[in-house]
Amino acid sequence: MTIGIAGAGSIGVAMAVVFARAGHQVRCWDPYPDSCRRAASELRDRLDRLHAGGLLDEEADLVGSRVAFVGDLEVAVADVALVQECAPERLDVKQPLYARLADLTGADVPLASSSSALRASLLAEGNPAAHRILVAHPANPPYLLPVIELVPSTATRRSITERAAALYAGAGLHPIALHREVDGFVFNRLQGALLREAYCLVRDGVVDVDDLDAVVTLGLGRRWSVIGPFETVDLNTRGGIAAHAEKMGPAYERMGRERGQHDPWTPDLVATVAAQRRALLPLEEWDGRVAWRDDQLIERARSDERRPQADEIATA
Ligand SMILES: NC(=O)c1ccc[n+]([C@@H]2O[C@H](COP(=O)([O-])OP(=O)(O)OC[C@H]3O[C@@H](n4cnc5c(N)ncnc54)[C@H](O)[C@@H]3O)[C@@H](O)[C@H]2O)c1
Repeated sequence: MTIGIAGAGSIGVAMAVVFARAGHQVRCWDPYPDSCRRAASELRDRLDRLHAGGLLDEEADLVGSRVAFVGDLEVAVADVALVQECAPERLDVKQPLYARLADLTGADVPLASSSSALRASLLAEGNPAAHRILVAHPANPPYLLPVIELVPSTATRRSITERAAALYAGAGLHPIALHREVDGFVFNRLQGALLREAYCLVRDGVVDVDDLDAVVTLGLGRRWSVIGPFETVDLNTRGGIAAHAEKMGPAYERMGRERGQHDPWTPDLVATVAAQRRALLPLEEWDGRVAWRDDQLIERARSDERRPQADEIATA
């Protein structure tokens, strides 16, 4: 299939890598010739790195040959299966672009925005193709962090979201369908919660920047590379997440209140979360899963040991 990309900046190039690696033809449009030139050399560089890292099944040249950079939007999106819009994060840039894309693309082509925070309902305001517009927010870089949030507006047709989801899944990404629109979606809301607290801790003289980062890279983040925050606390407490909420809920509520936040883990909310966790992991299998988590962390610890340290690189 052919995929059209609008905007050849860092995410446009990265999504070109994702689709080309999966065997699709990609036409990448940017209104600025200089951007196209830079993008072509960036694409080459990224493919070479992936190849050197053993993450391309084919030669970098072959994968790169599937990507064409074009200066004409009409040419870029002719007969494509999906448009991935990667224009600057500005409504006054994206809205007119969607007006053009509505005219230039077929009646069943998903128009997917990489936007980090703009809702599809805003992008689609007054657009006759509103039913084809959704947000498909990738992590950066998407060829190494394979999660993509799909956020339709109430106008987006379900068949469009499903077609987009199938294309992303076929290209090796893991689509996460949000139930409704929310500013910042899930990825950036989670990142934002952590960053807001990190800024407060530095502001209040509790910790320095590099030590805070180390708490994440050596602690929270290493664990999160294996299991998410819900599974983490589910496995941290015998009895699972309900037991964790009972023990730790009041302390987290106090910390939130210190920051002016009042979102208590009510019994109903904890019951909803616990029911979803128990459906994924019955308590009888809890000990086995804890052992599995440790095995995964052992693997990561070993691969960290094999990695050269910064001072070794400097003296090499
Ligand atoms: N950078 C990230 O980490 C990241 C992660 C996820 C999503 N996103 C989203 O992806 C989108 C692109 O971000 P980016 O970081 O690649 O930006 P960028 O500034 O690197 O690239 C934007 C590209 O758009 C081009 N452009 C300028 N005017 C345009 C127009 N009218 N129509 C189309 N293209 C135009 C520019 O020449 C440039 O090549 C944004 O919506 C951003 O929020 C970014």
